[in-house]
Amino acid sequence: MPENPLDFDYQSTTPCSQLVLEAMSQYWDEFWGNPSSRQNRAGLYASAAIGNAREKLASILRVNPERVVFTSGATEANNLALLGHSRAMLSKIGKPGHLITLATEHQAVLDPICQLQKEGFSVTKLSPNSDGIINLEELESSFKSNTFMVTIMFANNEIGVLQPMSEISSMCKKRGVVLHSDAAQALGYLPIHLDILEIDLLSISAHKIYGPKGIGALVLNQGVDIEPLLWGGGQENGIRPGTVPVPLVVGFVKAVEIAAMELDFNNKRLRNLRDNLWFGLKKEVPDLILNGSLNNRLPHNLNFTVKGVNGNRLQKLLKPLITCSSSSACSNGSPSHVLKALGRTLTESESSLRLSLGRSTTQEDIDQAIIRLVKVIEQLRN
Ligand SMILES: Cc1ncc(COP(=O)(O)O)c(C=O)c1O
Repeated sequence: MPENPLDFDYQSTTPCSQLVLEAMSQYWDEFWGNPSSRQNRAGLYASAAIGNAREKLASILRVNPERVVFTSGATEANNLALLGHSRAMLSKIGKPGHLITLATEHQAVLDPICQLQKEGFSVTKLSPNSDGIINLEELESSFKSNTFMVTIMFANNEIGVLQPMSEISSMCKKRGVVLHSDAAQALGYLPIHLDILEIDLLSISAHKIYGPKGIGALVLNQGVDIEPLLWGGGQENGIRPGTVPVPLVVGFVKAVEIAAMELDFNNKRLRNLRDNLWFGLKKEVPDLILNGSLNNRLPHNLNFTVKGVNGNRLQKLLKPLITCSSSSACSNGSPSHVLKALGRTLTESESSLRLSLGRSTTQEDIDQAIIRLVKVIEQLRN
């Protein structure tokens, strides 16, 4: 019996890297001031740290620093973008307009969209192609005269597929429609250069890239109206009031810097390992079904369906052997809406696994994972 389960769940979250912890450490005690209290020295240090971090993040994303609004993570950034912009447009125009989204979005987009429907907004939820990628012709024909916002995620959290953001952005620009993208899974794995890729509202998070939990940002374009969700001390230009958590912001931006610096190297390594895992498994269990496109995919994601096995028993047997996800970490165990949108049945979706690799994953882990998975599948099939 193996001692520890192998860790293959790095898309749900990652450990904080040592360098990030070191960068944060002095802001817990030595420089503990409130960045809004610029009358005292401690406050000035804290404010300088936030300013510095904001500039670094903005330079990596290639935007002006004023466009960065720190939030508690991507969930809050998504809510702020979707509810905040829609409500601002309602105040401006006087009646609720139309939004377009994709059925495979994260719940942190689908739930605010659901709230907007309750508030009178109309929504078109597009189904992706069978490989998980948006059908651009369908998107093109979904625009209406009152469409004011499109929200399409950069990279999917369950099946890792990458959406053609550049084409989507051009379609939106042509019509003067605001584009929001949830990039929680893309940050650190894809170069996100907002000077080229015109995305008006971008949601990002730290804890998927070896940064701290509880911090992220909404990066917004000039001229995009946002009605705040919170009211208070006016921080972050009044868009997101509340004392800015200095250590978390410093840690977040350190994590982004490291990920940006090592992006090519890490991606190549992860893609190789992921492909070894997939082709190694396929060799032993040829009828595994890949969920989502293999080519347009995050380098560290694999998601497949094991046909003819009971999903519950698969999870149970794998639990002591491999830490992985049967669906997204935020779906509270309900069947995957993403796999459903790809055409998988409920039974297929229940016997599907997401394996996501991390910085410490080795070829030995891959070899072991293949051995353990094949053994479990054979046991369930015999
Ligand atoms: C695509 C996507 N959006 C949003 C979130 C939520 O991010 P956070 O935990 O920063 O609120 C996640 C995390 O699971 C995610 O994968």
